[in-house]
Amino acid sequence: MAEITVQDLTKIYQDERIHDQVMAVDHVSFTCNDGEFMVLLGPSGCGKTSTLRMIAGLEEISAGKVFIGKTLVNDLAPADQNVAMAFENYALYPPLTVRENVVFPLKARGMPKVEIQNKLREVVDVLDIGDILDRRPAELSGGQQQRVSLGRCIIRDADVYLMDEPLSHLDSELRLRTRGELKRIHELNKRTVIYVTHDQVEALALADRIAVMDNGVLQQIGAPAQVYEHPINLFVAGFIGEPPMNFINGTISTAEGTHIFSSFDYDLNIQLPESLMVSARGWEKKKLVLGIRPHHTHMVHEKEFAQRSGKVVIYESLGEEGVLEVEVEGCPLTILTEPELRLKPRETVGVSVDWENAILFDEESGYSLNSNGD
Ligand SMILES: Nc1ncnc2c1ncn2[C@@H]1O[C@H](COP(=O)(O)OP(=O)(O)O)[C@@H](O)[C@H]1O
Ligand SMILES: [Mg+2]
Repeated sequence: MAEITVQDLTKIYQDERIHDQVMAVDHVSFTCNDGEFMVLLGPSGCGKTSTLRMIAGLEEISAGKVFIGKTLVNDLAPADQNVAMAFENYALYPPLTVRENVVFPLKARGMPKVEIQNKLREVVDVLDIGDILDRRPAELSGGQQQRVSLGRCIIRDADVYLMDEPLSHLDSELRLRTRGELKRIHELNKRTVIYVTHDQVEALALADRIAVMDNGVLQQIGAPAQVYEHPINLFVAGFIGEPPMNFINGTISTAEGTHIFSSFDYDLNIQLPESLMVSARGWEKKKLVLGIRPHHTHMVHEKEFAQRSGKVVIYESLGEEGVLEVEVEGCPLTILTEPELRLKPRETVGVSVDWENAILFDEESGYSLNSNGD
């Protein structure tokens, strides 16, 4: 069993410049199951790399425990564990060629030459590095170095794989291709992977489960659909999804069986569907945030189907889709549309919103009103 368990994992750095301590990882606990592809997702500086380096045995653990399988690995050196790693700045051996770098871990373990050649051929295909095999690291671009580092990781037959932003230096086409290959390899071999990224699209595409971090604290763990559709708080709701979720600050009042959400900042009143009120009972008059995703917000050509009229602020056609910023009663809303629309600033358009897909959050704590029931 190669599951990875972290319990109250904590990292405190001494920051010499400000003579103070930095709580980089704050009592993080989770289990990555055997064979699971788990993605640690969060903005730059939230503690992803520190978490992964502690699991890898590369960083001293300030507090908490790390288990690989049933073994407590806190005090074990990386070499004592069968862990393959690809770190963003994981040094390649400068005097060795790309070929020698990639096969190094296999040679070091005394694998027979023929087997090494077969493994190398597979990895060369996956990462498309056939034409640079005889070069040395200094003769490679950042993206090429990163692929070699990833090759040296995936060529191994390890219990667990730890990867820190392994695609960050690749251009977008190669990043997509390599992402697909990593996914394919994982579906084939079902190994335990913890993969760090700040890119929510990458996380949604790759993960069996996503662990979202902010400011050293684990916010939510769940399948991609879970964290996307049922974000536990405003941070997760805003971080996952592109373009980001629309947020409207306001409060609910109930009269004669109808529930009206009134914006604090704009002259906008929304009649909420009954389904949304299930979680909002008892929250009348409290400060809330109504969140609605751009793809649940529509531009309507036929005016009679529109709930509202909106004023175009800016429209961008992005190939497959369009992103429209409108103002409804002054309140800015982002709408996902079809591409290639001809829309001019200040033009009036019809707007229709699937409010039953909205999510209500407590403004003060940031938590979704659904989060207890989920
Ligand atoms: N060696 C270090 N000394 C002091 N602070 C550090 C050190 N390494 C990281 N940090 C701080 O810890 C926090 C988390 O960093 P890191 O784990 O690299 O985040 P991420 O990988 O999510 O960008 C950041 O505030 C960073 O500045
Ligand atoms: Mg990092």
